[in-house]
Amino acid sequence: MATRADAVREIAALSEQLRRHAHLYYVLDAPELPDAEYDKLFQRLQQLEAEHPDLRTPDSPTQRVGGAVLDGFAKVRHKLPMLSIRTETDITAGGASAFDTRVRKELGLAPDAAPVEYVCELKFDGLAINLRYESGVLVQAATRGDGEIGEDVTQNIRTVQQIPLRLHGAAPPVVEVRGEVYMRRDDFEALNARQRDKIAAGQKNEKVFVNPRNAAAGAVRQLDPAIAADRPLSFFAYGLGEVSSPAEGGPDCPTQFDWLQQMHAWGFPVAAQTQRASGAEQLIAFHETIGRLRDTLPYDIDGVVYKVDSLELQRRLGFVSREPRWAVAHKYAAQEQVTEVQAIEVQVGRTGKLTPVAKLAPVFVGGVTVTNATLHNEDEARRKDVRVGDRVIVRRAGDVIPEVVGVLPESSARPDDQRGPVFTMPRRCPVCGSDALREEGEVDYRCTGGLYCAAQRKEAILHFAARRALDIEGLGDRLVEQLVDAVLIRVLPDLYRLGFTTLAGLDRMADKSAKNLVAALEASKKTTLARFLFGLGIRHVGESTAKDLASHFGRLDGIMNATEEELLEVHDVGPIVAKSLRTFFDQPHNREVVEQLRACGLNWPEGEPAARVPKPLAGKTFVITGTLPNLSRDEAKERLEAAGAKVAGSVSKKTDYVVAGAEAGSKLDKAQQLGVAVIDEAGMLEILQTTV
Ligand code: IVH
Repeated sequence: MATRADAVREIAALSEQLRRHAHLYYVLDAPELPDAEYDKLFQRLQQLEAEHPDLRTPDSPTQRVGGAVLDGFAKVRHKLPMLSIRTETDITAGGASAFDTRVRKELGLAPDAAPVEYVCELKFDGLAINLRYESGVLVQAATRGDGEIGEDVTQNIRTVQQIPLRLHGAAPPVVEVRGEVYMRRDDFEALNARQRDKIAAGQKNEKVFVNPRNAAAGAVRQLDPAIAADRPLSFFAYGLGEVSSPAEGGPDCPTQFDWLQQMHAWGFPVAAQTQRASGAEQLIAFHETIGRLRDTLPYDIDGVVYKVDSLELQRRLGFVSREPRWAVAHKYAAQEQVTEVQAIEVQVGRTGKLTPVAKLAPVFVGGVTVTNATLHNEDEARRKDVRVGDRVIVRRAGDVIPEVVGVLPESSARPDDQRGPVFTMPRRCPVCGSDALREEGEVDYRCTGGLYCAAQRKEAILHFAARRALDIEGLGDRLVEQLVDAVLIRVLPDLYRLGFTTLAGLDRMADKSAKNLVAALEASKKTTLARFLFGLGIRHVGESTAKDLASHFGRLDGIMNATEEELLEVHDVGPIVAKSLRTFFDQPHNREVVEQLRACGLNWPEGEPAARVPKPLAGKTFVITGTLPNLSRDEAKERLEAAGAKVAGSVSKKTDYVVAGAEAGSKLDKAQQLGVAVIDEAGMLEILQTTV
């Protein structure tokens, strides 16, 4: 144990180092120390403080998390009211000019007087917080509340790594730093992923958050500080509350820009985009630049803020009711709006993916009128529990497809019999009527009528004509587009019914190209079974699987009529591929297309089935446990099964191998008890390589 004098010295040194490195990491985004080294210093400090509890101070880097679960928050009366800003709703350049004109008028400036100097900031979409520091130490954090009285959320705010517990450098006796607590979009997504896992695991009280602002507000007002610590928050400083005057030891900052720099020097994050601007033109330029940048920022903003830079001019301008005349928030088109769901339809994509889409009462969001919003897939639609007639939040950010974020409580709280039915995915493709299937481990349903389905027509033709398939030269994107849109091709065989005259009559089609295409089509008729099979575009049947199938069966009929068991005998064919082939050829429409293609003259040499050789791992049983470094469990299973092995769920004496990854648990113990061979992913791949 360190002597007390040594401990005092070491604690001071460690705290200083940790503060510096946390600032480099969290605020400046320029870490100098590997995480493991930081952890070592942190643990050493924890150890010293445990040995000398009286040396532990509230601003120690170890004191971010902790404290009891609260019954409620104490009220805090703000020393200076927390104001709001006038919002300029004209989102065009006119909004910025109107503000500058007002400021100039209030200041009584002549038209030819010099331009007013401003500071341009981002308008962060989080919640305002007042941080009170006394002698440089954070003593209280409070929400805005009604502007006069907020709530004491110090415990939770201490967990925000970007907020210093002690100011860097010289500190005045009193300073209140104001700014926005918010959640980054990536932190928000990760938090929601964790929330979904908890809900899936049966934790009834958990919920998924609709947007980063709600998640941030929930975290700040969380009564259990341990939960708050688990919800990653960030911070930007933009203003001040009570602060000691220069005579009392406060800094001398004559402008807003100086204050921002002072706050940065104290250790607070200040947005890098913050900029000085001269006159209306530069305000407009800032609004436009940030508007273009908006979607690339890692957090949400809903506008920019212009502030008169000089504090002297700010004082002269003063306030109207609760809003300063020297600041304005200039908005952008809202990225979220509320509207009503009029229907839920299912759309089929070019590759056969079925997507539930909410049909909406038209709403202006993200700069355009939106009438459709994606619900992504069946699980998402059910998790959000969107029903016809519900009022929902729709989001459109940048060029991203509009999505339904969630249902308003006023709708979701209605009794179930007063709402539309729960969404279920149709089991048949709404476009062509073929079976729609969802494979194990996948979130999407897919139409299995690949060759016939109108939604997939273009994609199917392009794939069929590709070099590695039927190799029809000259049949590219544009042409396929034209042929399908002009309904000259409905199904693949129509390709071979196109004559020279039809082709030569198409846009941008010279006689010579039409002649070449006719020749290419004719030439493509003589092909191989493998190319033909690959060209059909059956899900999971790539070029090499098509070759394996062709050499195994020799004839197309053999493949079309094989059972799943028979298909599994093919080298490299596992249950997923076998099932996919079976479903494809079970669709009468697909079989019809194949027959028609043959009738058009497509031909290939057919041979005898290859001699049946048992698969290399036939009769072997594997169990997979833990997380493998490269393959998912499903991928590993598919590979083993394709080589003929059985993959079981539990270890017994009959198990030949246990494939163990990270955090393998009881199955590994059992294997060791029973003396079953344990291998890792690399070992498994080696077995597959040497035997296959
Ligand atoms: S200044 C006297 N600057 O917008 C002006 N506010 O209605 C006080 N906000 O509650 C606020 N970004 O939460 C200011 N750069 C920024 C801001 C900002 C976001 C929020 C803040 C406040 C609201 C104003």
